[in-house]
Amino acid sequence: MTTTPTTPADGLTRRRLLGTAGTAAVAGAAALAPVAPASATTPGRTASRDRRVEQLLRRMTRQEKIGQLRLANTVESAEEALTTTGLGGIFSVVGARAINAIQRKAVEGTRLGIPLIVGLDVIHGYTTNFPIPLGQAAAFDADVAADDARVSAAEARRSGIHWTFAPMMDVCHEPRWGRIAEGNGEDPYLTTVLAAVKTKAYQGSSLASATSVAACAKHLAAYGAPEGGRDYNTVDVSIQRLHNLYLPPFKAAVEAGAATVMTSFNTIAGVPAHGNADLVRGVLKDRYRFEGFVVSDYTGVQELIPHGQAADGRDAAREGIRAGVDMEMTSTTYVENAAALLASGAITQRQLDDAVRRILRVKLDLGLFEEPYVDEAGEVTAPTAATRRSARSAAARSLVLLRNEGDVLPIPRTGRIAVIGPLATATYDLNGTWAGLGTGASTTPPTTVLAAIEALATGTVVHEPGCDVSGRGTGGIDAAVAAARAADVAVLVLGEDATMSGEAAARSDIGLPGVQQRLAEAVAEAQPSTVAVLVNGRPLTLTALAAAVPAILEAWAPGLEGGRAIADAVFGATNPGGKLPVSFPRSVGQVPLYYNHENTGRPYDPDNKFTSKYLDVEDGPLYPFGHGLSYTTFEVSDVRLSRATMSRRGGSVSVSAVVRNTGRVAGDEVVQLYVRDPVASIVQPVRRLRGFERVRLEPGVRRRVTFELTPGDVGFYDGDARWRVERGEIEVYVGTSSQAPLAGSFTVR
Ligand code: NOJ
Repeated sequence: MTTTPTTPADGLTRRRLLGTAGTAAVAGAAALAPVAPASATTPGRTASRDRRVEQLLRRMTRQEKIGQLRLANTVESAEEALTTTGLGGIFSVVGARAINAIQRKAVEGTRLGIPLIVGLDVIHGYTTNFPIPLGQAAAFDADVAADDARVSAAEARRSGIHWTFAPMMDVCHEPRWGRIAEGNGEDPYLTTVLAAVKTKAYQGSSLASATSVAACAKHLAAYGAPEGGRDYNTVDVSIQRLHNLYLPPFKAAVEAGAATVMTSFNTIAGVPAHGNADLVRGVLKDRYRFEGFVVSDYTGVQELIPHGQAADGRDAAREGIRAGVDMEMTSTTYVENAAALLASGAITQRQLDDAVRRILRVKLDLGLFEEPYVDEAGEVTAPTAATRRSARSAAARSLVLLRNEGDVLPIPRTGRIAVIGPLATATYDLNGTWAGLGTGASTTPPTTVLAAIEALATGTVVHEPGCDVSGRGTGGIDAAVAAARAADVAVLVLGEDATMSGEAAARSDIGLPGVQQRLAEAVAEAQPSTVAVLVNGRPLTLTALAAAVPAILEAWAPGLEGGRAIADAVFGATNPGGKLPVSFPRSVGQVPLYYNHENTGRPYDPDNKFTSKYLDVEDGPLYPFGHGLSYTTFEVSDVRLSRATMSRRGGSVSVSAVVRNTGRVAGDEVVQLYVRDPVASIVQPVRRLRGFERVRLEPGVRRRVTFELTPGDVGFYDGDARWRVERGEIEVYVGTSSQAPLAGSFTVR
């Protein structure tokens, strides 16, 4: 081990809270994840576009500039803004006609005719809802995320939306936090890969394309680490953890060309993100060289007042603008105070021009000056057969088989099937949180699990709800038990409704809500062939359920085609191959519990009381990160490392392994590669995911899978946010979950 950085610091004396020192050290370091260079859509790449921006800036009055910083959320407030303060954009307004109408007021009714940018939370679908992002991550397949982003972008842009507030890339160790549903789980590597892929897929090869939308990397930063899992709550992380765990997806999204970034509601070390110059200007704009614009979260600038960083709106605007938050969502402190702040010197003309320049660049890249309106005839109001196929495939690939004792799954289509549980007839709840247009009566609801099972079954299907999702009533349990007893097999459909995860949906108890566990136990006692299908937006504590039923299929909130994807898997028409992107704890008291934790000086030892553990719960998660079974079995063997050493300056080591389908049906396995640096200047996680590949194999077939490790995979950021690749041994683990065995090691020189 040595403590010398691989590249020298750049001599900057500035050393801020968030490590804005040492940009040269960072520029020389490999990115955490394999991301391609910035695409042609990256803001700031074309000289002619920049000339137009400068020309416009010269023509704009101070008030016109300030107006560009405002993002309104209703037609009424937008109309008011266009005639008073000025307006940069609007969001949460849907319908091509309504969007064109307000756009016309901006283009034809204002002096310079600068078009509005139109945003919406298209998080996992516009009309075609894909599984929630947590479910997509479970596919361990970047194509699933890319498919969602491509379909979503095309549907949204054709309907007048230019900008989605996605991808959300908040790494999260907090299953109590409802917004874990919107991200990709607990791992920075998986999140980084998917953040880059989604950003590129939303934005396509040109933002001006009729099927592209501007992406928004959110929420900067560490929003996934709220104390107690309560939404909006305080975050206090070390610099090294911030840079190793929470920031890598943002760095990758910037490198992938993300047009915009959204700040987060939380504080970091006492400084709210919306007023955090070290974070927004220092890390994002200076260090990562982000050239797009930063949008606040909903009233996030004004919330600097209750946070305690600002006394009033004027203070809040000053802090936000100084921090580098370019556009203010919903609240109006900028438009109300920026002129006075400029006059008093509290903010500078340069700061204002920089914000406006960034916003105009994105608008120009989107082609809005050439084509501000959307073709109303092309508006997308319903899914097509093709988008449904993509959503069904995504839902199928997101399924995780957690448990399957006695191979009770798949079940035969014949005989008598009792479909039980409050979510068997769920429609929009299958879409989960942030369902785009996929809520309410205006769109086709998802097919229910019950209807999908009925469609495939050749025998008799009966249904009993048994109980509500979260009610305490037990009156329906007897009928459910009777139905299960009279059947050959029971399928329980349990979990959370759509409102129980997402924003402002923290839970202190992450077990099955209401009396669902009682229902499950009663049904399983009456019918030994009982399988549970879970619809939920977060990891649940399933210890009691796993004790009651032999099989559990995790379906997340699977989206529009989720019911059909579940039925396919239940009958074996498809074979689940997803893996957990997040650990499932045994009990909520273990939280936070994540695979990539640091070792203590007294690692868990069941035979030694004075080691790190709880007295009242078995060690570790019930289901670890990366876990997922199949209807077949796999064996990983013959792991080979190409070299025994890796040079710190650009060396590489390939790791390969053979995976073989040792069972009787075709199936998918996700081969996973983890590394560990056992001795380092900052203690390193016991495992870090550094590669995965989902392979489909026929029975008896084998394939060699190869991963390439570089210094970017074994280094880390230190307590000054400097990138280091230290000399010494790196352990390599290859297998089918985060509990993969040690496969070898190499030495970094
Ligand atoms: C608040 C949420 O935190 C953010 O993710 C979302 O994009 C905005 N509201 C706009 O709806």
